[in-house]
Amino acid sequence: MKFEDIHARVGHVPFIAKENARILYDLILRERPARILELGIAHGTATCYMAAALEEAGGGLITAVDLLETAATFQPSAEEQLERTGLSKFARVVRMQTGYTWFLHDEIARRTRDGACEPEYDLCVIDGPKNWTIDGAAFFMADKLLRRGGWMIFDDYDWTYRWDCVEDNIDGITQRSLSREELETPHIREVFELLVRQHPDYGDFLRMERNDWALARKTGGGDKTYTLVYSETTPDLFAKALRKVLRRLRGLTRSLRRG
Ligand SMILES: C[S@@+](CC[C@H](N)C(=O)[O-])C[C@H]1O[C@@H](n2cnc3c(N)ncnc32)[C@H](O)[C@@H]1O
Repeated sequence: MKFEDIHARVGHVPFIAKENARILYDLILRERPARILELGIAHGTATCYMAAALEEAGGGLITAVDLLETAATFQPSAEEQLERTGLSKFARVVRMQTGYTWFLHDEIARRTRDGACEPEYDLCVIDGPKNWTIDGAAFFMADKLLRRGGWMIFDDYDWTYRWDCVEDNIDGITQRSLSREELETPHIREVFELLVRQHPDYGDFLRMERNDWALARKTGGGDKTYTLVYSETTPDLFAKALRKVLRRLRGLTRSLRRG
């Protein structure tokens, strides 16, 4: 399915912005991944864009994983959106009781022969709780399942509990139990800068500031090129400053409400 067609069908449903969806769609057409692992799916909107790209590319399968407990929260559901767009055959939705790290456990166990894990995926999108412990572990686990040459994409590079999250409890993490540093530090940034970039098998790093995305390729070693695509137009800079002010206001309001 063409990009504009899938966008017309699911573009109004959160959480992926059109620009990010386009990047993902084009990456799939360019790289032709046969197997995609999506960790954190919500309404399955990104899943639908990826499924449309797979259909256009001639086939492939997305394994899309989320929490069992949030299945009813996200309406329309991923299954409904896939059904409505006629793209169900390109995705398998898996819902786990405690989250994707246990799904990754099961996958690694299933793919292990003679003490080694046989990789299965060509692209992995990590877009879940944005938490150091969960997503840091998820990176190392997903790495075992990612083929050489495959891509790892992280959303929410700059997201923080303090400035971006209004709930006290999100994805099983209670903010009151976090230190000030943990609240104010972007966890995905730390995962990307400290774990992914230092990993000997990863390179071709790409950080898209405006999109809040960070990408890395499993090169198998060698080139550690880091490209930063940053916001440079006046409207971009203005939107970024405005977002920052709004985030801080939200965080402040929440702190005041809590007393
Ligand atoms: C931002 S949404 C994903 C959006 C989706 N990738 C898109 O772009 O359309 C984050 C999702 O991560 C899920 N999530 C959070 N913690 C999780 C965990 N430990 N395991 C699995 N899913 C988790 C949430 O239930 C939520 O659906």
